[in-house]
Amino acid sequence: MTGITNFSTPRHFLTLQDFSAETLRGILDFSRDLKTLFAKGERPPLLQDKVLAMIFERESTRTRVSFDVGMRQLGGQTLMLTGQEMQLAREETLADTARVMSRYVDAIMIRILDNDDLLELAGASSVPVINGLTRRSHPCQVMADILTYEEHRGPIGEAKIAWVGDTNNVMASWVHASALFGNQFTIACPEEFGPDQAMLADIRKAGANVKLTEDPHEAVADADLVITDTWVSMGDTDASERRKVLKPYRVDTRLMGEAGKDALFMHCLPAHRGDEVTDEVIDGPRSVVFDEAENRLHVQKAILCWVFGIEAL
Ligand code: CP
Ligand code: NVA
Repeated sequence: MTGITNFSTPRHFLTLQDFSAETLRGILDFSRDLKTLFAKGERPPLLQDKVLAMIFERESTRTRVSFDVGMRQLGGQTLMLTGQEMQLAREETLADTARVMSRYVDAIMIRILDNDDLLELAGASSVPVINGLTRRSHPCQVMADILTYEEHRGPIGEAKIAWVGDTNNVMASWVHASALFGNQFTIACPEEFGPDQAMLADIRKAGANVKLTEDPHEAVADADLVITDTWVSMGDTDASERRKVLKPYRVDTRLMGEAGKDALFMHCLPAHRGDEVTDEVIDGPRSVVFDEAENRLHVQKAILCWVFGIEAL
């Protein structure tokens, strides 16, 4: 192991709000380079001897597998942990856990619902911490979404994007990205499941390009990209009420027909087919959901390199 990268200021990746557009652009460019190299069969061992500890307090398929495989492809290694099998389950604090883990591993990736828990861990960690989803944000997902949009359609800053359905972590990271990149981002959600005070503050801060409406038809009109997500996120307990209230926000062929004629469809997955999106849309020609899933791998390799101070080949 190479030890602690930068003791006084580890490079955390916690929320897109912490970054400038230039830094995120650098990470996206590097993602593309790594993806191209990988397609040619090249495997630069940029993270040889680095160990990433992954702590999952909640379920995951994409985040877990893509971080694990990404580290291996760059020559590093991973530890897969859950809070239940650590002393976290017996009330050891996240801060003490971070202090201990910092003596063993080179970086930590964590999925934990409470964003304050993420901040407690990162605040006490002397190695980089990466946010693998909290209830407040999902920055790695939105970086993969931007990479995907740009591969298909070009600069994100010129995109008109509609978010339709629940207001959640993925949407919040899109608000943060829109504030940086300047794309249009219109959120259509029912009042009952609209943004909470913290999200509203982020929306207000983002600028005039981020808008809020209750009308999904208004949001998708002429959109270049329509995005939705599950109506019931991890930690939500009111599934039946959500299904009832959010029903008019289902993305179906008719709603997609009101978007721009070349509009793409995205969903971070896992999808609940028949709820927030129909089979026809998610399996249709405009859907790029599996490209998004693949790009988690490529963008997270660049994020991993960035936290270790590697920004280009
Ligand atoms: N999109 C996403 O983060 O998927 P997982 O919950 O499977 O990691
Ligand atoms: N909004 C969803 C995203 C899952 C990847 C959730 O938090 O459950």
